Amino acid sequence: MRLPNRREFNDVALGSLVTLSAAMALDAATAVVLTGAARTVKFRGGTIVAAIGQGSGSIGQGRHPAADEEEALYTGLSLGMTLIDTSGNYGEGRSEELIKRVIAGQRDRAFVVSKVEANEVTGDAMARACQATLSRLGTDHLDLYLLHWPTPNAEFSEVVAGFESLRAAGKVRAWGVSNFTVPQMEDLFQIPQGDRCATNQVLYNLGDRRIEHDLLPWCEQHGMPVMAYSPLGGTGASLLRDPTLVRIGAAHECSAAAVALAWTIRNGNVIGIPESGSVAHVKENAVALSLTLTPQELQSLDAAYPLPNR
Ligand SMILES: NC(=O)c1ccc[n+]([C@@H]2O[C@H](COP(=O)([O-])OP(=O)(O)OC[C@H]3O[C@@H](n4cnc5c(N)ncnc54)[C@H](OP(=O)(O)O)[C@@H]3O)[C@@H](O)[C@H]2O)c1
Repeated sequence: MRLPNRREFNDVALGSLVTLSAAMALDAATAVVLTGAARTVKFRGGTIVAAIGQGSGSIGQGRHPAADEEEALYTGLSLGMTLIDTSGNYGEGRSEELIKRVIAGQRDRAFVVSKVEANEVTGDAMARACQATLSRLGTDHLDLYLLHWPTPNAEFSEVVAGFESLRAAGKVRAWGVSNFTVPQMEDLFQIPQGDRCATNQVLYNLGDRRIEHDLLPWCEQHGMPVMAYSPLGGTGASLLRDPTLVRIGAAHECSAAAVALAWTIRNGNVIGIPESGSVAHVKENAVALSLTLTPQELQSLDAAYPLPNR
């Protein structure tokens, strides 16, 4: 079965959640068929992506053999986790170089996100950083380019101008930020064209729900998806030993990881970007695209991981 490319996936998904047939992915190696409506998230410009993507912060840096990491990312892509998150500074570019090999020949199927550092935004530094990223990835455009960490607010207009110039040149389709607080988002939106920011990528998982107090509702009010990094609790995925997650996973015949990810994307406005260099883990994670937690299960998770006071 030929999988839909991203444009076809978007066409089918536009306006509503993607249907089962469009999102169905057959893994020939194990004959695992993902069933159920795959979760998607819509950017304000209308682009729709699968709600679970793939991170790559330590990819290409020897945590796993490179061939295993390539196969893991490739498998994730074929199972519908088409958004791949990287950064020019992950392993000094080695993450991007490995991703180049994964997306070679199937660039249209991937939604590629990379990042520029706060010290690379003045003068022509952003354009140079973007060009270096594009070369390492072997592509002529990024689907999304993010400012990795906030600059001083006084530099926001230069950041926006740099991103908009890359967008006008066709090097990036959209841009956004990462690790911005609500006051920083407010200030960004005061800058002309600052409201073209497509997303804010921030820490979010069951064990760290702080953005639910302010940033998550702010982004929802502004129609802006949030990208959740470390959705499994970060390196080592310590969250996944939690008995409540394990029990709910057992009820659905899936892993605790799939439950944690399904929880992360439950409101329809969050894209989770788990990282894995293991094919087996990637297959577990992809199950979250079609996993619906019951109200009782969500209550149990709330009780196990209550939203902390501000
Ligand atoms: N914008 C930012 O400032 C920022 C900061 C941090 C991260 N990020 C992005 O977010 C991505 C994800 O965050 P993260 O890497 O910090 O944390 P994470 O995705 O929550 O956790 C990654 C860890 O989980 C393990 N894992 C993955 N799937 C698993 C499964 N099914 N079962 C058991 N373990 C599993 C991985 O090991 P295996 O490889 O062995 O599976 C790895 O140790 C990064 O790769 C990066 O792209 C962005």
